[in-house]
Amino acid sequence: FVHQLADESVPISELLVSPLRQEPRGALPLPPDVFGFQRANSSGLDLSVPAMREPLLAAYAGVQLPVVPEFDAKLVSGPIAISASCYKTWSAAPVAQRADVLRKAADALQAQLPRFCALLVKEAFKTWNDAISEVREAIDFLRYYAAQAERLMQPQMLPGLEGDTLLGITGETNELTLTGRGPWVCISPWNFPLAIFTGQVAAALATGNTVLAKPAEQTPGVALEAVKLLHAAGVPEGVLQLLHGPGETVGAALVAAPGVAGVVFTGSTQVAKIINRALAAKDGPIVPLIAETGGINAMLVDSTALPEQVCDAVMQSAFRSAGQRCSALRLLCVHEDIADHVIEMICGAACELVVGDPADLATDVGPVIDLEAYSGIQRHLTRLRSETRDVLVDYMKNRPLALTEQAPVAMNSMANLIGPQAFEVKHISDLKEEIFGPVLHIVRWGGDPLKVIEQINALGSSALPGGATPGYGLTLGIQTRIDSRAQQLAHAAHIGNVYINRNQIGAVVGVQPFGGEGLSGTGPKAGGPHYLLRFCAEKTVTINT
Ligand code: NAD
Ligand code: ALA
Repeated sequence: FVHQLADESVPISELLVSPLRQEPRGALPLPPDVFGFQRANSSGLDLSVPAMREPLLAAYAGVQLPVVPEFDAKLVSGPIAISASCYKTWSAAPVAQRADVLRKAADALQAQLPRFCALLVKEAFKTWNDAISEVREAIDFLRYYAAQAERLMQPQMLPGLEGDTLLGITGETNELTLTGRGPWVCISPWNFPLAIFTGQVAAALATGNTVLAKPAEQTPGVALEAVKLLHAAGVPEGVLQLLHGPGETVGAALVAAPGVAGVVFTGSTQVAKIINRALAAKDGPIVPLIAETGGINAMLVDSTALPEQVCDAVMQSAFRSAGQRCSALRLLCVHEDIADHVIEMICGAACELVVGDPADLATDVGPVIDLEAYSGIQRHLTRLRSETRDVLVDYMKNRPLALTEQAPVAMNSMANLIGPQAFEVKHISDLKEEIFGPVLHIVRWGGDPLKVIEQINALGSSALPGGATPGYGLTLGIQTRIDSRAQQLAHAAHIGNVYINRNQIGAVVGVQPFGGEGLSGTGPKAGGPHYLLRFCAEKTVTINT
């Protein structure tokens, strides 16, 4: 996890992972009207440097998306039987051997970074910056879970020593060991088709489980290439099997099949609930479920916040990746005293964003994933346009010059493109569902910020604010220059990842364990020290000596 800045003399494949993902913060020397999204690359690479961009462009020109055959959902018992029989040898291998295989896969992925970036741009319409960050995140997952498994899966003698004193029952030894559980079903979404796919699979494999991986329908090609890479690194084919097909058939059949030891799912809250119900209805053992789901993520900005910093954080959190991150900002709650100024800055910056073909190096916002997503967002925009204030349209009306800039509205030059959108709504509770696109909702507040947090805690919940049913709880941004307030608000929020005075996306593996509460997921957090435990069975052996 060493941070290394771009250097022209270093080949792209040798750059270490986990770049500095934060831009320098604080006031930037740009007039508010044209405060631009800082395009300095948040992947840590400067793509204006030929040595950085040429391998990417060459890979893009040469890469072909593989054709991935669909699996017949009626046949899932076959792969599950293979998985169960391979479990015996894979789980019996020393953890260091499994960890070495994952490290080899990480090295191979690092060596093929441009090709995997190109696949992500082609299949998932990632911008280059997002693609680079995603490949690096996948590499981080492989290395982190390899190291974590080696650390956690050592047998422990309990209760052990405290100072020089042995705290135990005289005449016996007690040993705690962790093992895998059996075949795991890993179900992943299209928005991180490499990082989340690889993270789930790596966690299950490191802990000695075998895997049946069901990628999202939209992105099977990236998944197939990742599986091939893991096989080449030494994961036996029966230990990791890819079953591509619709969630409603292949995914559902896998979840319902006997012999599944666990399910790890990342995707929508709605599908997580379907899977939870299906598992509960099964005969046989209780099957553990890890579900990481959606969010209605807010940023609370008080009157002491630095407007430039807020604007930079909003641009990245709401519009990067075309808003197609579970962590993305959906609802900006800005104090009434600075609201006009902040909104104006956001509009100026949004007009600067380049919306277009993700393969183009200059593009900041690429298309949304498919026509279904596009149509759903457009339906929401139609409602917003009739019921709320379109702040970008107002901004452009008041500034004829801005009209010559890029219009921040849907563009038709490429299918499914939606430019940044921003609307002022009246109440926090007006936003009732996760809108998975570049759409920012803005609300003004005054009075007690703790009351605002109470309403944010209830987002998506049918209970009243302060009621017992939690709403979504994935990410929260807090912008304030009062330290004690930041701490107080962070403490009061029922949110998995709270970011203070920065953007709220791009959690770094091993540094910012990621995952939500309530409607946003079950935990444990991906990329955190407790994640692997859920994949393990624990055994205590007591010997009367
Ligand atoms: P989705 O729920 O539609 O699909 C996710 C996966 O579930 C896909 O592989 C799909 O084929 C499968 N699936 C669908 N129905 C199924 C069923 N009945 N049984 C079994 N599997 C089924 O989600 P999506 O559109 O792919 O991804 C976007 C969603 O994922 C958003 O809500 C986003 O917030 C969430 N997400 C969460 C995180 C996180 O870490 N919390 C990360 C990324 C995305
Ligand atoms: N882990 C991803 C992020 O933090 C989803 O943005």
